[in-house]
Amino acid sequence: MGKKVCLSAALVLLALAAPARAATPDDRAAQIVKRMTLEEKVRLSAGVFGCVFRGADGFVPGISRLGVPDQYFVGAGMGVTNVCDRPGKGMGPATELPAPIAMAASWDPKVAFEHGTVIGRETRAIGFNVSIGGAVNLVRDPRGGRTFENEGEDPLLAGRIVAAQLRGIQSRKVAATIKHYALNNGETHRLTQSTNVDERTMRELELRAFEIGVKESGVHAVMCSYNKVNGVPACQNRHLLTDVLKRDWGFKGWVMTDWWACSLPIQILPGDACEPAKAALAGLDQEQPNLTFFGPLLLAAAATGGVPQSRIDDIAHRVIRSLIAAGVVDDPPVARGIDPAAGVEPAQRLSEQTAVLLKNQGALLPLDRRKHRRIAAIGRPAGEDPASVAGSSVVVDSAAPDSALEGLRDVAPGADVRYDDGSDRARAAALARASDVAIVYVRDTAAEGVDKPNLALAPGSDALVSAVAAANPRTIVVVMSGSAVTMPWLGGVPAVLEAWYPGERGGHAIARLLFGDANPSGRLPLTFPAREADLPASASPERWPGTSRRIDYTERLLVGYRWYDTKGIKPLFPFGFGLSYGGRFKYSALKLRRTRVRAPAQVRDGHRLTRVSVRVRNTGRRRAAEVVQLYTGFPAAAGEPRKRLIGFRKVWLAPRRSTRVHFTIDDRALAYWGNGWEIARGGYPIWAASSAAKLRLRKTLRVR
Ligand code: BGC
Repeated sequence: MGKKVCLSAALVLLALAAPARAATPDDRAAQIVKRMTLEEKVRLSAGVFGCVFRGADGFVPGISRLGVPDQYFVGAGMGVTNVCDRPGKGMGPATELPAPIAMAASWDPKVAFEHGTVIGRETRAIGFNVSIGGAVNLVRDPRGGRTFENEGEDPLLAGRIVAAQLRGIQSRKVAATIKHYALNNGETHRLTQSTNVDERTMRELELRAFEIGVKESGVHAVMCSYNKVNGVPACQNRHLLTDVLKRDWGFKGWVMTDWWACSLPIQILPGDACEPAKAALAGLDQEQPNLTFFGPLLLAAAATGGVPQSRIDDIAHRVIRSLIAAGVVDDPPVARGIDPAAGVEPAQRLSEQTAVLLKNQGALLPLDRRKHRRIAAIGRPAGEDPASVAGSSVVVDSAAPDSALEGLRDVAPGADVRYDDGSDRARAAALARASDVAIVYVRDTAAEGVDKPNLALAPGSDALVSAVAAANPRTIVVVMSGSAVTMPWLGGVPAVLEAWYPGERGGHAIARLLFGDANPSGRLPLTFPAREADLPASASPERWPGTSRRIDYTERLLVGYRWYDTKGIKPLFPFGFGLSYGGRFKYSALKLRRTRVRAPAQVRDGHRLTRVSVRVRNTGRRRAAEVVQLYTGFPAAAGEPRKRLIGFRKVWLAPRRSTRVHFTIDDRALAYWGNGWEIARGGYPIWAASSAAKLRLRKTLRVR
């Protein structure tokens, strides 16, 4: 007895003396899982039909006796959106933000982070706790239907940008998702096609974007994709889910399926459906939006030993630890409704940082309120809500839609702005002729589930631009597209602004950019080819579009600028390109902290190989942004494309100001996938550049 008292007293003293280590989400989840029944654990592995519960895209009932909350899933590519619940029902309107391709065109993780905070805040405001935006499929071919929902053709840019957005979402205490894992780079055959690709290509390109996205954000969920990878459904792909994601990258969250991926309701081809034991053993944790092969079937598989207890525990653990880590258990969201007014200012400000000025001959832009008084605004997209430009499950029921025309009239109240929808080219040309300046607004179309047949603008647009430009040499083209477009009229037009799908205040953002109230600072996150025949995947139908059953990535590493560079094909506009008003940047004093380094035996994350810095000075007339890009080349032994982006930083500089821009390059930046990550010995040219095609300074790093 005495002994016992003594022991308890000692324990109390110990507890008081050493502040108890706060229980981690993993500790807490482990405690909860211990108290769960098998049925309860399996309950977390599948949604219950989407759209029914508060109109959520997906719903997983919680376990209230143990404090595990219900999970409510809501979409978020361009803002909070719910396929089940629009327009105007229940959830109400939300802030429509610039599309992810535009977010990437900012080349600024701060922009992406803020984009995410708006999504996170509004997700909580409707009382939901899981956000399912976060697409980061690489743009292998710009004809891909969901190009606008992703962050371009380079894994470093795409990964860093999506990671910043996901951190922004999660900073508002919402569990975020990264998707569509993986190799879902086309739409038309996404349900039935197998992406056939070698290990090196996938590790260095698509999976590299996901790896950076996962590791740099601490994202809590991964959505596996509809397609198969090398013949195995992505959601039942042990290599992708367990070997790469969970083992190599150390992902601790949970993996959910895309909606009905590899399940009977949409999996029309025999043999393609997922099976409970196979999928669970491969590493899938949750089926969405409802139970067809998990749920009761998984319970049965567990009961007969087809799936070990430890794996079922792991599923429950992953879901619960992630909800705790996201903050939705200790601080659950309360449905107070979205405050649409709060999103208006950020939507516009973010949009202003994403547009790319592609051409500005004779400094026609920015427009001058005194000189350019009669303005012709031409083309139907000028009169439309720019939010209506994209067609997909990401379309937001926008809280504050505007149009380019409204923006123009608000920003230049003294101007005589005349609008013509462009349906009659001769009439539009006559208006242009009678105006000081003509602005033609054009768009493309894109949607989920179907790829673009080509990169042309909407029918009639090219002829309209040519007719207007012939009538007025001061013609400006504003492109609202979700991907690269072809511009057969480019030579005849002095100015082009790529505004992407700019979100709900896009009209105002565009007008402020045209008048120079904001200085364009975006850069292309994907190459604009001169013609479709130049695209890497145009070389053979196996590469694009493939068949309903397969698509072969035989271009291997030659995606985007890696292709144009290596093949010596001149694009219309290169990756990383963009102009500003009056900014001229001089690069000097490129320094490598060490120019000779030893190849590490094993390439790890975060091992600092070398530091690079470069001085940049604005010798121009206006405050403007430069996106300093760092590329590396490789010794021939590495078998790499000619160059790879290894760093980028956007800096704003006033005239005559300069700054030194610093980069830390870790081993992984120089590694290739051989037997694991390896570094070849030899010389690595390191370029400071202002686009993939405009290299400014070079130094060589020697790896021994
Ligand atoms: C899309 C996903 C989306 C899901 C739920 C699917 O069709 O591919 O991106 O999250 O629907 O809306």
